[in-house]
Amino acid sequence: MPKIQAGTVELFYAEYGEGLPVLCVHGFPLDHSMWQGQYSSSISGVRWIVPDLRGFGASQVSSGLVTMAQYADDLAALLDAMGVDGPVVYCGLSMGGYVGWEMADRHRQRLAAMILCDTRAAADTPETARGRQLLADRVLADGPEQLVQSMVPKLFHESAIASQREWVKSTKRVMETSSRQGIAAALRGMAQRRDLRTLAAALHLPVLLLCGVNDGITPLTEMEELARTMPQATLVPIPDSAHMAPLENPGAANQAIQAFLQRLPSLPSGGKY
Ligand code: MLT
Repeated sequence: MPKIQAGTVELFYAEYGEGLPVLCVHGFPLDHSMWQGQYSSSISGVRWIVPDLRGFGASQVSSGLVTMAQYADDLAALLDAMGVDGPVVYCGLSMGGYVGWEMADRHRQRLAAMILCDTRAAADTPETARGRQLLADRVLADGPEQLVQSMVPKLFHESAIASQREWVKSTKRVMETSSRQGIAAALRGMAQRRDLRTLAAALHLPVLLLCGVNDGITPLTEMEELARTMPQATLVPIPDSAHMAPLENPGAANQAIQAFLQRLPSLPSGGKY
Protein backbone atom coordinates (compact mmCIF):
# COMPACT_ATOMS: atom_id res chain seq x y z
CA MET A 1 0.00 0.00 0.00
CA PRO A 2 1.52 3.33 -1.03
CA LYS A 3 2.70 6.42 0.75
CA ILE A 4 3.00 9.62 -1.23
CA GLN A 5 4.36 13.11 -0.69
CA ALA A 6 1.23 15.31 -0.58
CA GLY A 7 2.37 18.93 -0.33
CA THR A 8 4.17 19.27 3.00
CA VAL A 9 3.40 15.81 4.37
CA GLU A 10 3.82 12.15 3.50
CA LEU A 11 0.43 10.44 3.52
CA PHE A 12 -0.54 6.81 3.46
CA TYR A 13 -3.48 5.86 1.26
CA ALA A 14 -5.10 2.72 -0.13
CA GLU A 15 -7.18 2.31 -3.30
CA TYR A 16 -9.84 -0.23 -4.19
CA GLY A 17 -11.94 -0.67 -7.33
CA GLU A 18 -12.29 1.38 -10.50
CA GLY A 19 -14.66 4.13 -11.56
CA LEU A 20 -15.97 7.25 -9.85
CA PRO A 21 -13.37 8.39 -7.28
CA VAL A 22 -14.82 8.47 -3.77
CA LEU A 23 -12.40 9.96 -1.23
CA CYS A 24 -13.18 8.52 2.22
CA VAL A 25 -11.89 10.48 5.21
CA HIS A 26 -11.88 8.90 8.65
CA GLY A 27 -12.96 10.26 12.01
CA PHE A 28 -10.96 10.90 15.17
CA PRO A 29 -8.70 9.19 16.31
CA LEU A 30 -8.98 6.52 13.64
CA ASP A 31 -7.52 5.55 10.28
CA HIS A 32 -8.62 4.44 6.81
CA SER A 33 -9.68 0.97 8.02
CA MET A 34 -12.94 2.39 9.40
CA TRP A 35 -14.19 2.31 5.76
CA GLN A 36 -13.65 -1.47 5.41
CA GLY A 37 -17.42 -2.02 5.04
CA GLN A 38 -17.39 0.25 1.97
CA TYR A 39 -14.12 -0.55 0.14
CA SER A 40 -14.67 -4.29 0.53
CA SER A 41 -18.32 -4.06 -0.52
CA SER A 42 -19.84 -5.17 -3.81
CA ILE A 43 -20.68 -1.58 -4.89
CA SER A 44 -19.40 -1.43 -8.47
CA GLY A 45 -18.11 1.49 -10.56
CA VAL A 46 -16.35 3.13 -7.61
CA ARG A 47 -12.68 3.85 -7.03
CA TRP A 48 -12.38 4.08 -3.23
CA ILE A 49 -9.47 6.31 -2.17
CA VAL A 50 -8.91 5.87 1.57
CA PRO A 51 -6.10 7.91 3.12
CA ASP A 52 -4.86 8.25 6.69
CA LEU A 53 -4.93 11.91 7.69
CA ARG A 54 -1.74 13.64 8.81
CA GLY A 55 -0.88 12.32 12.29
CA PHE A 56 -2.96 9.13 12.04
CA GLY A 57 -2.43 5.54 10.91
CA ALA A 58 0.67 5.20 8.75
CA SER A 59 0.83 8.87 7.70
CA GLN A 60 3.48 11.32 8.85
CA VAL A 61 2.84 12.95 12.21
CA SER A 62 2.86 16.71 12.87
CA SER A 63 2.95 17.91 16.45
CA GLY A 64 1.40 21.11 17.82
CA LEU A 65 -1.90 21.87 16.14
CA VAL A 66 -3.36 20.77 12.80
CA THR A 67 -6.34 22.77 11.55
CA MET A 68 -9.24 21.26 9.62
CA ALA A 69 -8.14 23.53 6.74
CA GLN A 70 -4.67 21.95 6.80
CA TYR A 71 -6.14 18.45 6.58
CA ALA A 72 -8.25 19.63 3.61
CA ASP A 73 -5.21 21.12 1.88
CA ASP A 74 -3.34 17.85 2.47
CA LEU A 75 -6.16 15.93 0.77
CA ALA A 76 -6.21 18.27 -2.23
CA ALA A 77 -2.42 17.78 -2.48
CA LEU A 78 -2.93 14.02 -2.24
CA LEU A 79 -5.35 14.07 -5.19
CA ASP A 80 -2.84 16.18 -7.15
CA ALA A 81 0.00 13.80 -6.31
CA MET A 82 -2.14 10.81 -7.36
CA GLY A 83 -3.04 12.53 -10.65
CA VAL A 84 -6.77 12.61 -9.83
CA ASP A 85 -7.70 15.77 -11.74
CA GLY A 86 -11.48 15.55 -12.05
CA PRO A 87 -14.03 16.08 -9.30
CA VAL A 88 -14.47 13.40 -6.63
CA VAL A 89 -17.19 12.44 -4.23
CA TYR A 90 -15.99 13.47 -0.78
CA CYS A 91 -17.06 11.09 1.98
CA GLY A 92 -16.22 11.91 5.61
CA LEU A 93 -17.25 10.77 9.06
CA SER A 94 -17.38 13.13 12.03
CA MET A 95 -13.95 14.83 12.04
CA GLY A 96 -13.74 13.72 8.40
CA GLY A 97 -16.92 15.77 7.94
CA TYR A 98 -15.36 18.83 9.61
CA VAL A 99 -12.55 18.50 7.08
CA GLY A 100 -15.17 18.12 4.34
CA TRP A 101 -16.64 21.58 5.00
CA GLU A 102 -13.16 23.07 4.63
CA MET A 103 -12.67 21.07 1.45
CA ALA A 104 -15.93 22.55 0.12
CA ASP A 105 -14.78 26.04 1.06
CA ARG A 106 -11.18 25.84 -0.13
CA HIS A 107 -11.25 23.26 -2.94
CA ARG A 108 -14.82 23.45 -4.22
CA GLN A 109 -13.81 22.62 -7.82
CA ARG A 110 -12.57 19.23 -6.56
CA LEU A 111 -16.01 18.10 -5.45
CA ALA A 112 -18.83 16.48 -7.43
CA ALA A 113 -20.88 15.54 -4.37
CA MET A 114 -20.51 14.81 -0.67
CA ILE A 115 -21.43 12.00 1.72
CA LEU A 116 -21.26 13.24 5.30
CA CYS A 117 -21.71 10.77 8.13
CA ASP A 118 -22.35 11.45 11.83
CA THR A 119 -21.01 14.98 11.73
CA ARG A 120 -21.94 18.62 12.28
CA ALA A 121 -21.17 22.02 10.74
CA ALA A 122 -21.29 23.98 14.02
CA ALA A 123 -18.13 24.88 15.95
CA ASP A 124 -17.36 23.62 19.46
CA THR A 125 -18.94 25.38 22.41
CA PRO A 126 -16.31 27.18 24.53
CA GLU A 127 -16.66 24.44 27.15
CA THR A 128 -16.10 21.62 24.63
CA ALA A 129 -13.12 23.47 23.18
CA ARG A 130 -11.57 23.88 26.65
CA GLY A 131 -12.15 20.18 27.34
CA ARG A 132 -10.32 19.27 24.13
CA GLN A 133 -7.31 21.41 25.11
CA LEU A 134 -7.10 19.65 28.49
CA LEU A 135 -7.52 16.27 26.84
CA ALA A 136 -4.70 17.06 24.38
CA ASP A 137 -2.35 17.78 27.29
CA ARG A 138 -3.45 14.60 29.07
CA VAL A 139 -2.93 12.40 26.00
CA LEU A 140 0.54 13.88 25.46
CA ALA A 141 1.46 13.16 29.09
CA ASP A 142 -0.21 9.79 29.65
CA GLY A 143 -1.04 8.30 26.26
CA PRO A 144 -4.42 7.57 24.66
CA GLU A 145 -5.70 4.80 27.02
CA GLN A 146 -8.16 6.97 28.94
CA LEU A 147 -9.42 8.60 25.74
CA VAL A 148 -10.02 5.16 24.22
CA GLN A 149 -11.89 3.93 27.31
CA SER A 150 -14.21 6.93 27.24
CA MET A 151 -14.74 6.95 23.46
CA VAL A 152 -15.54 3.30 22.72
CA PRO A 153 -19.01 3.35 24.36
CA LYS A 154 -19.82 6.52 22.42
CA LEU A 155 -18.62 5.24 19.06
CA PHE A 156 -20.47 1.94 18.94
CA HIS A 157 -23.93 0.61 19.61
CA GLU A 158 -23.90 -1.27 22.94
CA SER A 159 -24.87 -4.57 21.31
CA ALA A 160 -21.74 -4.45 19.11
CA ILE A 161 -19.55 -3.85 22.17
CA ALA A 162 -21.29 -6.59 24.19
CA SER A 163 -20.86 -9.12 21.39
CA GLN A 164 -17.19 -8.15 20.93
CA ARG A 165 -17.53 -7.62 17.19
CA GLU A 166 -14.20 -7.94 15.40
CA TRP A 167 -14.42 -4.38 14.03
CA VAL A 168 -14.93 -3.00 17.54
CA LYS A 169 -11.71 -4.72 18.62
CA SER A 170 -9.76 -3.60 15.54
CA THR A 171 -10.98 0.02 15.87
CA LYS A 172 -9.93 0.00 19.53
CA ARG A 173 -6.48 -1.23 18.50
CA VAL A 174 -6.20 1.61 15.94
CA MET A 175 -7.06 4.15 18.65
CA GLU A 176 -4.68 2.63 21.20
CA THR A 177 -1.78 2.74 18.75
CA SER A 178 -2.46 6.27 17.44
CA SER A 179 0.34 8.76 17.94
CA ARG A 180 -0.01 10.99 21.01
CA GLN A 181 1.18 13.97 18.97
CA GLY A 182 -1.25 13.24 16.16
CA ILE A 183 -4.19 12.95 18.58
CA ALA A 184 -3.25 16.15 20.45
CA ALA A 185 -2.80 18.12 17.22
CA ALA A 186 -6.24 17.04 15.98
CA LEU A 187 -7.93 17.85 19.30
CA ARG A 188 -6.45 21.36 19.22
CA GLY A 189 -7.48 21.74 15.58
CA MET A 190 -11.06 20.63 16.28
CA ALA A 191 -11.25 23.05 19.22
CA GLN A 192 -10.39 25.92 16.88
CA ARG A 193 -12.65 25.05 13.99
CA ARG A 194 -15.01 27.57 12.45
CA ASP A 195 -18.79 27.53 12.50
CA LEU A 196 -19.53 26.50 8.92
CA ARG A 197 -23.33 26.29 9.05
CA THR A 198 -23.61 29.25 6.67
CA LEU A 199 -21.36 27.49 4.19
CA ALA A 200 -23.43 24.30 4.51
CA ALA A 201 -26.64 26.25 3.87
CA ALA A 202 -25.18 27.71 0.66
CA LEU A 203 -23.66 24.48 -0.64
CA HIS A 204 -25.15 23.70 -4.04
CA LEU A 205 -23.89 20.15 -4.34
CA PRO A 206 -25.71 16.84 -4.03
CA VAL A 207 -25.16 15.76 -0.41
CA LEU A 208 -26.03 12.50 1.30
CA LEU A 209 -26.16 12.70 5.10
CA LEU A 210 -25.98 9.45 7.08
CA CYS A 211 -26.51 9.22 10.82
CA GLY A 212 -26.64 6.27 13.20
CA VAL A 213 -30.00 6.39 14.97
CA ASN A 214 -28.25 5.83 18.32
CA ASP A 215 -25.47 8.36 17.76
CA GLY A 216 -24.90 10.26 21.03
CA ILE A 217 -22.01 12.38 19.70
CA THR A 218 -23.88 13.87 16.73
CA PRO A 219 -27.51 13.04 17.49
CA LEU A 220 -29.95 12.33 14.67
CA THR A 221 -32.03 15.40 15.65
CA GLU A 222 -28.99 17.62 15.04
CA MET A 223 -28.35 16.08 11.63
CA GLU A 224 -32.04 16.45 10.75
CA GLU A 225 -31.73 20.15 11.54
CA LEU A 226 -28.59 20.37 9.35
CA ALA A 227 -30.40 18.58 6.50
CA ARG A 228 -33.28 21.08 6.66
CA THR A 229 -30.86 23.97 6.07
CA MET A 230 -29.00 22.40 3.14
CA PRO A 231 -30.43 22.96 -0.36
CA GLN A 232 -29.51 19.58 -1.89
CA ALA A 233 -29.16 17.26 1.10
CA THR A 234 -30.91 13.96 1.78
CA LEU A 235 -30.64 12.41 5.24
CA VAL A 236 -30.78 8.65 5.71
CA PRO A 237 -30.92 7.36 9.31
CA ILE A 238 -28.92 4.15 9.78
CA PRO A 239 -30.51 1.64 12.19
CA ASP A 240 -28.59 -0.45 14.75
CA SER A 241 -25.75 2.07 14.78
CA ALA A 242 -24.27 4.74 17.01
CA HIS A 243 -21.51 7.13 15.82
CA MET A 244 -19.77 4.77 13.37
CA ALA A 245 -22.74 4.07 11.11
CA PRO A 246 -20.87 3.01 7.91
CA LEU A 247 -18.77 0.53 9.91
CA GLU A 248 -21.55 -0.68 12.20
CA ASN A 249 -24.21 -1.23 9.57
CA PRO A 250 -22.50 -1.36 6.17
CA GLY A 251 -25.55 -3.02 4.59
CA ALA A 252 -27.85 -0.05 5.25
CA ALA A 253 -25.11 2.55 4.70
CA ASN A 254 -24.03 1.02 1.38
CA GLN A 255 -27.59 0.78 0.12
CA ALA A 256 -27.97 4.53 0.71
CA ILE A 257 -24.53 5.28 -0.80
CA GLN A 258 -25.14 3.19 -3.90
CA ALA A 259 -28.56 4.76 -4.52
CA PHE A 260 -27.05 8.24 -4.07
CA LEU A 261 -24.13 7.59 -6.44
CA GLN A 262 -26.48 6.16 -9.08
CA ARG A 263 -28.53 9.36 -9.02
CA LEU A 264 -25.51 11.62 -9.67
CA PRO A 265 -25.18 13.11 -13.15
CA SER A 266 -22.11 12.00 -15.10
CA LEU A 267 -19.02 14.01 -14.33
CA PRO A 268 -18.07 17.01 -16.48
CA SER A 269 -14.55 15.66 -17.08
CA GLY A 270 -16.08 13.20 -19.50
CA GLY A 271 -17.96 9.97 -19.65
CA LYS A 272 -19.92 8.03 -17.15
CA TYR A 273 -18.24 6.42 -14.21
C1 MLT B 1 -14.96 11.85 15.54
O1 MLT B 1 -15.56 10.78 15.52
O2 MLT B 1 -14.26 12.23 14.58
C2 MLT B 1 -15.06 12.71 16.78
O3 MLT B 1 -16.08 12.23 17.60
C3 MLT B 1 -15.28 14.15 16.42
C4 MLT B 1 -15.36 15.04 17.63
O4 MLT B 1 -14.74 14.72 18.66
O5 MLT B 1 -16.02 16.09 17.54
